[in-house]
Parts: sequence; C-alpha cells; structure tokens
Amino acid sequence: MVKRNEIASLLKGEGLGSEVIVRGWVRSFRNNQFMILNDGSTFHSIQVVVDQEKTDAAILKRITVGAAVGVKGKLTESLGKGQQFEVSATAIEIYGDCDAEQYPLQLKNRPSLEYLREIAHLRFRTNTFGAVFRVRHAMAFAIHRFFNDRGFYYLNTPIVTASDAEGAGEMFRVTTLDMEKPPRNAQGDINFSEDFFGRSANLTVSGQLEAELGAMALGKVYTFGPTFRAENSNTTRHLAEFWMIEPEVAFADLEDNMDLAEDLLKYCIRYALDHCSDDLNFLAQRLADEEKQKPQAERSEMGLLEKLQFCLENNFERLTYTEAIEILKASKPNQKKQFKYLIEGWGADLQSEHERYLVEKHFKKPVILTNYPAAIKAFYMRQDEPKEGVPGPTVSAMDILFPGIGEIVGGSQREERLDKLTRRMEEMHIPTEEMYWYLDTRRYGSCPHAGFGLGFERMVLFVTGMTNIRDVIPFPRFPGNAEF
Ligand code: 4AD
Ligand code: MG
Repeated sequence: MVKRNEIASLLKGEGLGSEVIVRGWVRSFRNNQFMILNDGSTFHSIQVVVDQEKTDAAILKRITVGAAVGVKGKLTESLGKGQQFEVSATAIEIYGDCDAEQYPLQLKNRPSLEYLREIAHLRFRTNTFGAVFRVRHAMAFAIHRFFNDRGFYYLNTPIVTASDAEGAGEMFRVTTLDMEKPPRNAQGDINFSEDFFGRSANLTVSGQLEAELGAMALGKVYTFGPTFRAENSNTTRHLAEFWMIEPEVAFADLEDNMDLAEDLLKYCIRYALDHCSDDLNFLAQRLADEEKQKPQAERSEMGLLEKLQFCLENNFERLTYTEAIEILKASKPNQKKQFKYLIEGWGADLQSEHERYLVEKHFKKPVILTNYPAAIKAFYMRQDEPKEGVPGPTVSAMDILFPGIGEIVGGSQREERLDKLTRRMEEMHIPTEEMYWYLDTRRYGSCPHAGFGLGFERMVLFVTGMTNIRDVIPFPRFPGNAEF
C-alpha cells in the first residue's frame, strides 16, 4: 500500500499544504460533510471535509460510524473551531463497511464499562479504551527502559512449571492426560508420571524463584510476564491472569529493595505523565465526571493528574507491620467496631479495609509496610532477629500500598542462609528434595539478595484512574470468564 500519514503527525501540522493519505475508522459523519477519523496513533481524531458535490452518493452512504476508510486530500489549516488542521478530501476509498444497524458500538449514548467488557473485542475503538491501552503500552515500555538503564537483564522465566513459587497452592494445572480416563496408580490416584512432563505441572504463579537463580550470577535481573492464580477472587483488584514485574538483585537488602520499588513506581508514573498527556487528560476528565455522580463524602480529594503528581513529590511512608498494628488498634473504625475484621492484636493478616485506612485516611499517601509476622508470609523471606517490643518472629517482607488500589507491590529480602531456609521449608511442608535447585543457590555461593513483584495491571489501574482491573487488560480472565 502507498504509505499513509498517521493522524498523530498530521495533527502536528506535518505535511501542511500538501497532499496526504489518511486511513482510519470513522468516529462520526455529520451533514454528509464532516467526517471524524481516528487511526489509533493518538487520542485525537482528525476532521476530514468531504466535498458532497464531487463525491459519489454511493460512497457517501457508506461513510458510517465504525467503517474503515482511506482519504486522499490536502492538509490545511482549519477555519472551523475545535481543530487546528483538517484534510480536504479529493478521493475516498471504503475498505470495510460497518452496518450502523448491526454495529454494537453506537457511541451516541456513552456505553457503560460493564457493557463494553462484554464486547471487549470491540472496546478498543472507544476513547476510553484507546487511552487506557496506549497508557498501558507506555508503562510497559517505561519498565524495560528503567531496568535497562540501570544495568538489569530481562530474564524470561517459565510459564509452565512444576513448582509452586508462593507455596499458596492456587494453581492452574497443565496436563495432556485424558480427563475422562486418566491413568491411575495402585492407590487409585491420577498417575502424573504418565503426563506430558512426566510429573504434575501448572501455570506459574510467579517467576521469582527462577529469577533468584539468574540473579545469583547475572547480579540484577527482572522478569515481566504473565502469571496465573486460580484464586476465586471476584474483586475489582484481582485477575486470574495478570502481568507481573519481578526484579531480583544480588547483594541487596530490604532497604535497597524499598528504594528500588519506590524509584520504579515513580519513574513509571512520571513516564506516563510525560508521554501520555492527551490520554491522561481525557482519563482525568472521565474520572472527574464519574466522581460527580458520587455523594460528596465518597469523592476523592484529588483529581487524577494531581494524585499522580502528589505521588511523585512525596516520599512513601515507611513503617513496620508492628507499628501499623498499633495505629490500626487505636484507630476510630477499630474502636467503633466499623472494621469488618477488628484488629485485636499482633499477628493478624491485614485486610484491604485496614490497608485502605492506613493509606487513604491515616497517612494519605503511599505506604511501605515492612517486617511482617513470619506466619503470614512466604517461606523464602529472610528471618529477622528478634526485636524488643515485637511479640513474634518476623521476616524482612515489604508490601507497598497505594491509595484506591491497596497492595501494588509485594517483596522481601530473601533468606540466604541454608540452614534457616531449610528449617522454614520443613515447617511449612515445602518439599526440600524437589526444590534442590533452589536450595543449591544457598549451597554454592549464597549471598544477601532481595526482590519484589509489581502487579502491572494494578499500576495501570492507578495511573489511568480506572476503577476495575478488568478494564486495564485487553482480555481479562476471571472466574467464569475466558471469552475471546
Ligand atoms: O504479593 P505477591 O503474591 O508476590 C509474589 O508473587 C512474589 N513472588 C513477588 C516477588 O517477591 N518477586 O504478588 C505480587 C504483586 C501484588 O502486590 C499485586 O500487585 C499483584 O502482584 N497481584 C495481582 N494482580 C492482579 N490479580 C491478582 N490476582 C494478583 N495477585 C497478585
Ligand atoms: Mg502479596
């Protein structure tokens, strides 16, 4: 095809006064004269002025919302208000018709996000989802740039694995066995030694353990890939398939880990602000409109852009789990028994209502909680020395909590001492023989190291101001849904 001029460059005035070729999808067509065309290269659409007299009536009829068209014409300065440049069409070609009667995306009445989720194959064509997915792309790119600039290596860890990294057991099984008649052993259990991999396999819940192996030679690595959790969480924060970024750094402690995570989050937010201003301005307005529908008391104090800026300008609040429990115990909603799960004492796992209280009410900014009770955290986290005033054993864990999101990052310094790690695994019934490969890093040249996992969709959720995680991944997977 003859090369087209993308709308993003035309709207900068590139090619002004000369003939251009623009191709895209019709957003609207007014008075048989003004065609609004979008090609995805930018949030903005371009106005094409159609000469009714010189255009075949059959072509005019086929210019409908959603149709794919090509236009040859002159890029001129627009006399009308609302746009600086427009294209005066001299020739129009229809690539793909779009029957207005049938098309599920009539943009006249703003379709609800719920409805759009049901037609996720078409929702890219709306302003909102165009903006969301351009921002998502920018943030993915920012992540690679951040790590590349700092000397990290991008390490691809397996999607199919036989290990349960988190020890949480919420995995999707991968098998080629005949589910109608699976082979069974003498005890009547399914015999996975006859399965494809000669053992039971599953989709990964995290690439961390393999990333640790890489970090023990390459020094600084990160993963960025899909992870899978078969937890039955039907919330606006959980997906069954989500993307996670997992850096792992040799010769690093919890403090370094917190610094890295805070730097990464701020870098990505700044990158979006610097590179996605059209999309973010639109999303900010969308959120402001949505907020107006809410009762005054539930509205957020800051607009989207203000909130992002605020995150950049303020240090994340760092405190220990033990300190957080004291704050929560003394808090109004706990005293007045408004929390669903009351904080009675040390050791309880924090629920999202507690995290939200700390972030949104108490500190009013992102918070990093550290040194959680060992009992509520994974086996690989480094065991802390006992400390006065701390009732039980803790680990060098860190969770970063964000306003409106809750946990966005989970990580820790890793237990590098073979004896302590083995003992902990035995206590938690994690098979040490099967995990020989993980323990080998502690046998041969172990060193202090740390890492974390950043939930990519939760970060995109925060930056776009969307309210449901299913709206920031192109094709969400959640209980009861694997459509498209
Ligand atoms: O806290 P998680 O479970 O930590 C790990 O998987 C560690 N292995 C990470 C590491 O240290 N390398 O998950 C990390 C982050 C969470 O903070 C959250 O942002 C996101 O992943 N996450 C989810 N995002 C969407 N849907 C889900 N079901 C998620 N579960 C976790
Ligand atoms: Mg976690």
